[in-house]
Amino acid sequence: MSMFETIIRQRALCLALLVAMGAVSPQLYAADDDDDGDAVIMTAEQADEAVLRVLNAPSSDKGADSCLKCHDEDNEYPVMPLFKTRHATATDPRTPFANQQCETCHGPGGEHQKESKKGEEKAPILNFGKNVWTPAKAQNERCLSCHQNHERIEWKGSSHEFNEVACASCHRIHVTNDPMLDKKQQADVCYTCHVNKRAKFFQVSRHPVREGQMSCSDCHNAHAEDGDGIRVAATVREKCTSCHAEKRGPFLWEHQPAAEDCAVCHTPHGSNFPALLKKRPPQLCQQCHAQAGHPSVSYNGSVVPSQFLSVKGCLNCHSNTHGSNHPSGASSLR
Ligand code: HEC
Ligand code: HEC
Ligand code: HEC
Ligand code: HEC
Ligand code: HEC
Ligand code: HEC
Ligand code: HEC
Ligand code: HEC
Ligand code: HEC
Ligand code: HEC
Repeated sequence: MSMFETIIRQRALCLALLVAMGAVSPQLYAADDDDDGDAVIMTAEQADEAVLRVLNAPSSDKGADSCLKCHDEDNEYPVMPLFKTRHATATDPRTPFANQQCETCHGPGGEHQKESKKGEEKAPILNFGKNVWTPAKAQNERCLSCHQNHERIEWKGSSHEFNEVACASCHRIHVTNDPMLDKKQQADVCYTCHVNKRAKFFQVSRHPVREGQMSCSDCHNAHAEDGDGIRVAATVREKCTSCHAEKRGPFLWEHQPAAEDCAVCHTPHGSNFPALLKKRPPQLCQQCHAQAGHPSVSYNGSVVPSQFLSVKGCLNCHSNTHGSNHPSGASSLR
């Protein structure tokens, strides 16, 4: 165990006590690299200090080569696939490999390299992802040093930034194909945090995300979500009609709610009613339309719906609930 780890492990005990007593803020960074349950724990302050220590360390002497002496193919964590990605294009001056190579992201590793060589000790080096000691902010600063001004990355002010989600909680760097950029695998990464969404996409009616025909990012801009759910288009309706163009209108006869907001009747992720509906017709329609006086109400004047209605619902007659262009479609009948 390195001195660095010993210190933070000892402090972890006292801290746990202090947190339990309510004496200090419970913001801790934990890392359990090998999943053996002995997480390294430090406070936000200690983590910030460790980050500074890394950033002030000297660079390694031989760039990537010095890292690969230890982090080679035989190591339990395979770093080599990185060389097949865009980040390793040394001929592209914008990439890490045209710069400080591994250390462009992980920070200067001279001290880490030297101490690791001695065997006993291990100086910290920046690490990335969800369960690592390096605070998300410090991780993301490395990535943003290059990706800040990307046209599609409006990270600042987003819900994910505010909640300190790390870039590397979504993106994998040391793999040839980042699952986040693959329609078939993306949702599984999102579900690691948005657990309840998985169940939604197992309901009877759903968008074909599980089938790999669509991904979450067809509707969401993961970098720019600001709490409204949708940032890509000005409104949810605009987003929906970008694919369902036939529902956009304008129609000769508009159905007011459909002209205003698809989400009045539909839920985006999954529903146990057909067509992603929030309720089943006629209940859906009856939220706004009373039965009284309607031709479908039985002749004796009671508000008991006719048998015809209860079996087939409103849509049997009012089939164009999204709007109609038929000259006599005023009641969305055609
Ligand atoms: C002399 C061998 C050696 C060299 C050289 C070396 N490392 Fe390490 N590195 C290690 C060991 C040992 C660990 C600890 C592994 C563990 O905890 O599972 C480690 C851990 C790491 C970690 C994980 C740190 C953490 O907190 O979880 C990263 C990232 C890393 N090294 C990157 C690098 C980079 C980048 C370089 C080159 C600048 C480098 N290493 C050079 C031996 C080395
Ligand atoms: C030294 C600059 C630099 C740093 C630091 C950097 N990147 Fe990149 N990244 C690039 C360049 C250049 C590309 C290729 C962009 C292109 O071809 O348009 C790229 C591409 C990507 C891509 C797209 C990959 C693909 O296959 O399309 C992702 C995702 C990405 N980076 C995420 C990250 C993350 C996460 C970090 C931090 C852990 C990071 N980058 C750090 C420069 C950098
Ligand atoms: C919540 C998950 C998530 C987080 C967090 C995240 N990304 Fe992404 N990123 C995505 C998705 C999804 C895409 C694919 C977007 C698309 O296809 O429109 C993507 C695409 C990218 C690309 C490629 C863009 C392109 O135009 O080819 C880069 C570069 C990138 N992200 C960098 C970053 C950086 C840097 C951070 C941290 C500041 C970050 N991402 C944080 C989900 C995320
Ligand atoms: C573009 C930024 C970037 C570059 C360049 C980069 N890494 Fe990484 N590294 C990451 C990220 C992000 C992770 C977290 C896992 C992942 O994304 O696959 C990581 C994880 C690691 C780990 C695993 C640490 C652990 O948790 O056990 C090691 C070791 C490592 N990198 C070493 C290297 C070495 C060696 C190089 C150079 C050959 C290198 N990295 C280049 C971003 C980078
Ligand atoms: C067809 C477009 C669409 C797809 C595909 C989609 N979403 Fe959404 N999502 C929305 C809309 C619209 C909202 C806002 C309306 C609402 O709150 O129900 C939303 C809201 C959210 C929210 C915030 C509100 C809430 O319900 O918790 C999260 C988190 C979310 N989506 C995650 C995901 C994930 C993860 C995926 C992929 C597995 C995904 N979404 C796929 C359209 C979509
Ligand atoms: C590492 C965890 C993590 C991952 C992975 C992740 N998210 Fe999030 N996401 C969060 C947190 C935390 C928030 C803010 C708290 C909340 O609203 O749940 C958030 C917020 C959101 C919101 C805005 C909800 C709102 O109302 O503010 C949307 C939409 C969303 N995420 C979609 C996605 C999508 C799509 C993916 C995959 C591309 C994804 N997230 C991956 C953690 C994550
Ligand atoms: C990126 C394109 C895209 C976007 C954006 C989109 N959809 Fe879809 N939608 C689809 C696809 C593809 C299907 C499946 C069509 C099929 O199977 O024939 C679908 C199916 C549906 C269905 C029928 C589901 C069923 O069980 O039959 C409804 C209802 C629907 N979408 C409503 C919406 C709403 C509401 C929005 C906005 C929140 C929206 N869609 C946004 C592509 C999209
Ligand atoms: C007043 C409630 C209501 C509103 C608002 C509404 N819909 Fe629907 N939608 C329905 C009903 C009911 C069905 C089932 C129709 C059927 O089975 O014929 C449906 C079915 C659908 C379908 C699948 C069947 C088809 O016709 O392709 C899509 C796609 C769809 N709606 C998209 C939208 C979009 C996009 C919006 C917003 C512009 C929207 N809906 C607004 C009630 C509504
Ligand atoms: C959120 C409330 C709401 C829901 C839900 C709703 N409607 Fe409507 N509907 C309206 C409003 C508002 C009008 C316009 C009324 C007016 O102009 O007097 C309207 C108009 C109509 C009209 C035309 C009336 C006319 O002659 O102008 C029909 C037919 C109709 N709706 C059927 C349905 C059906 C069928 C459903 C269920 C699929 C439904 N509505 C769901 C609010 C709703
Ligand atoms: C058997 C066919 C039929 C069924 C089923 C039906 N309607 Fe109608 N509806 C009509 C006809 C025909 C009109 C036109 C009446 C008129 O113009 O005087 C109409 C008119 C309407 C209107 C226009 C305003 C009004 O009250 O005159 C609304 C709103 C309406 N229906 C809603 C519904 C709802 C909600 C349901 C389901 C609970 C439903 N309808 C079921 C045939 C039907």
